[in-house]
Amino acid sequence: MALRLSSKRLYAAIASPRTAVVSSQCRCYASSASAAVASSNLPGAVKESITRESSLHSPDPSESSQTARLVNDQLPFMVPTYVRPPPMFQKGEGCYLWDVENRKYLDFTAGIAVNALGHCDPEMAKLLGHQAQTLVHTSNLYHNPWTGTLSKLLVEKTLASGGMQTASKAFICNSGSEANEAAIKFARKVGKVVDPSGAKYEFVSFYNSFHGRTMGSLSATPNPKYQKPFSPMVPGFKYGTYNHIEGLKDLVTDKTCGVIVEPIQGEGGVNVATPEFLSALRQRCNEVGAVLIYDEIQCGLSRTGRLWAHGALPAESHPDILTTAKALGNGFPIGATIVNEAVATKIVTGDHGTTFGGNPLGSRVAHYVLTRLSDPELQKSVLEKEKVFRKHFEALQKRFPDVVTEFRGNGLILGLQLTQDPTPVVTAARERGLLVITCGTNTLRFVPPLIISEAEIEAGMEILGDSMSAVFHQPVEVEGTKGQQETQ
Ligand SMILES: Cc1ncc(COP(=O)(O)O)c(C=O)c1O
Repeated sequence: MALRLSSKRLYAAIASPRTAVVSSQCRCYASSASAAVASSNLPGAVKESITRESSLHSPDPSESSQTARLVNDQLPFMVPTYVRPPPMFQKGEGCYLWDVENRKYLDFTAGIAVNALGHCDPEMAKLLGHQAQTLVHTSNLYHNPWTGTLSKLLVEKTLASGGMQTASKAFICNSGSEANEAAIKFARKVGKVVDPSGAKYEFVSFYNSFHGRTMGSLSATPNPKYQKPFSPMVPGFKYGTYNHIEGLKDLVTDKTCGVIVEPIQGEGGVNVATPEFLSALRQRCNEVGAVLIYDEIQCGLSRTGRLWAHGALPAESHPDILTTAKALGNGFPIGATIVNEAVATKIVTGDHGTTFGGNPLGSRVAHYVLTRLSDPELQKSVLEKEKVFRKHFEALQKRFPDVVTEFRGNGLILGLQLTQDPTPVVTAARERGLLVITCGTNTLRFVPPLIISEAEIEAGMEILGDSMSAVFHQPVEVEGTKGQQETQ
């Protein structure tokens, strides 16, 4: 009875906004629960399991849980493309998710940089309902009020933001891979128009990049793990070293029709391109007449505090094509390929298309999301929130000097570089009520909803610190005891 009460109190603690006080209460309840179990005459394995369950906010569901029953029922029918952790999420609100056991998790992942406005934004939900009752889909064979309105807003907001000053038209599709696929096809078409001999077909991308899973975008993603099972890749793809200016001359040649680069590599480890590299790349593309594509699918849409991550660069370094997706629909699947006139004039009717892309439902949602995400107040707040993360990263680096080597990124796309596999930390954090993901090599990735509050960041980082303590066996720092420890 005492135990059950403790677990409930623990849940109640996380159900309210977490603070240092709440967190220390959690530890206090957990330790009294553990003490009760330790002095009981239960079998050792049962004791261990109860102690674990009572000391963690959201221990991964057991084999006998409702979650496991559901998963075991469903998994045999799913192509095994992903290995998922045990919880099953069924509800979201703001920066929180709830699993089917009704446990609450603070979400630092935002569906991999997607839910920038948080989960189930009420306005977006209302608008989705309204548009669903008005018009969902007609195909691209007909006009509708929203595909063009979204395209116009994408171009206008891009121009107003200081990013891609040649933005002229947009092609709306359904995902990041498709946005890049369109960009690759457009570059190939430009190459054919510029050089009708067909010799200008090579396409360049960079190591550690991620551009998608379709054959074209996968061919631009030089990661053997993703490419090997599906080789051979599309012919003509070449890879260079990110931020390596000297290599560009041999890499990008007269045969190159297009180059794609992430201004900040997301999956590759939150690696930031230097302004010098992007500028040199632009210059080299100009020299050989290649189309330059910035993939801002993960780093764009105000995640860096500017609408586009490349927005601080001078116009001379801007791309010919800009791709976006992820946050554009806040979870509704949609992507866009924004092009300049030089590209647009070389694409003719029938060259490219999509059945669903830009349907009225998706376009209306994205129009709303883009309007919200381009708000200067939100963008300003992203930079304030970055400071809070960085303060905690510094503290973690001091606390775990052998584990944390550096932190990188801009705004709310941040990476904490560890010397070892962060998977145990991810698990420990999840079991304490925080969702965080990895990327690159041993990097913890932070891409929370942009609407996250500073208090939520503080609470999440406290959980992360506790989780790292649990994994790396360092004592949890208890307020007021630091001085004593230092003098001992
Ligand atoms: C930079 C970048 N480009 C492209 C993609 C592919 O997007 P999608 O998964 O929507 O096809 C991703 C997805 O993670 C990405 O991060």
